[in-house]
Amino acid sequence: MKNLLITGGAGFIGSNYVRYVLQNHSDLHVTVFDKLTYAGNLDNLRDVAEQFQLRYKFVKGDICDAAAVEAALRDRSIDTIVNFAAESHVDRSLLTPDAFIKTDVNGTHVLLEAAKNFQIERYHQVSTDEVYGDVPVGSSKEIDPLAPRSPYSASKAGGDLLVQAYHVSFGVPTTITRGSNTYGPYQYPEKLLPLFMTNAIDDQWLPVYGDGLQVRDWLYVLDHCAGIDLVLQRGTPGEVYNLGGENEQHNIDVIRMLLKMMHKPESLLRRVTDRPGHDRRYSLDVSKLHTLGFEQSATFEQELAATVKWYTKNEWWWRKIKSGEYLEYYKAQYEKRLAESTAVQ
Ligand code: NAD
Ligand code: DAU
Repeated sequence: MKNLLITGGAGFIGSNYVRYVLQNHSDLHVTVFDKLTYAGNLDNLRDVAEQFQLRYKFVKGDICDAAAVEAALRDRSIDTIVNFAAESHVDRSLLTPDAFIKTDVNGTHVLLEAAKNFQIERYHQVSTDEVYGDVPVGSSKEIDPLAPRSPYSASKAGGDLLVQAYHVSFGVPTTITRGSNTYGPYQYPEKLLPLFMTNAIDDQWLPVYGDGLQVRDWLYVLDHCAGIDLVLQRGTPGEVYNLGGENEQHNIDVIRMLLKMMHKPESLLRRVTDRPGHDRRYSLDVSKLHTLGFEQSATFEQELAATVKWYTKNEWWWRKIKSGEYLEYYKAQYEKRLAESTAVQ
């Protein structure tokens, strides 16, 4: 592994991963291949471009465009693909499912074809715990059936199945990680934690879906990056690895912890109509990843506090985003719901 193509590397986890591998592997060269959708942002990589000029290159491109993908593989002598590129927000998948099927299914297929034709040494797919669907009891193991319930999770599951099929049918050396809810610097402020942090800084309402008793397993972004790196170094081709934070929490408890850290009142919380088809709980069994030596860096409380600090100090980054397209999306998603909202007891 010497020349990595990191698709979706201008997004949240992808940009953290680019920084992580360049800092931790001095022999690696990284090419970021990204369409720069609303979620892609070169500000996420500004420091990387300055610090790693000789080992980093950015190529603007769409993973659905086979010619552009092949040109990048050829021109940059790529031996490893790590695919972060995706439409990633469940709420948006309920508004515009087509984009999810295009990128998360068709785009994955284009990358796999290219990986096969160019005899890539490793194709890694960044997937999600959401492919297992709602998990009322117990924890999902890698061999469990996939039961996705939103257009987002269904398209990610489609991608995973194609990855497995290309390994079995054509011998492409693939690995998959299924990560849980990730948080940290550079996360687009549509997802729960950055949305609530940035709204709270501005004393804006915080829209809690339904009773707030849904359960998510929170994973710090650098732990997510370390888990992917570990699977690339030590994982077995053809295998899937769950990558969770072993930190299951009710949404409302996380939100209250956040408000306390930010010294903001609970009166900012508003109960709004729930997300349609909202999965109640995700839970991963991560014992397989532990056999490779996976360990997390710090506690949830420490990493959440560090993330609050980052958003507080980096208003330049998120204030630019919270304009234009973002405001249109926010209005469509929340205006009516907030107008009809009630206080959270
Ligand atoms: P993100 O939305 O922040 O970033 C996605 C990136 O992909 C953006 O830079 C965007 O421009 C790019 N992109 C989208 N469509 C593209 C296309 N057709 N061609 C090229 N680039 C394209 O997403 P994220 O939260 O960083 O998630 C990254 C990956 O991790 C996704 O595959 C997601 O499913 C998975 N994941 C995310 C989480 C989470 O909590 N955020 C958890 C588990 C897994
Ligand atoms: O589980 C991994 C997944 O985590 C990733 O695959 C997805 O890419 C990522 O977006 C995330 O999906 P979720 O739907 O769990 O994340 P989100 O931040 O949108 O919501 C987290 C929880 O908070 C969920 O139960 C819905 C709730 N929520 C979310 C928003 C945006 C609210 O109560 N209010 C909100 O405004």
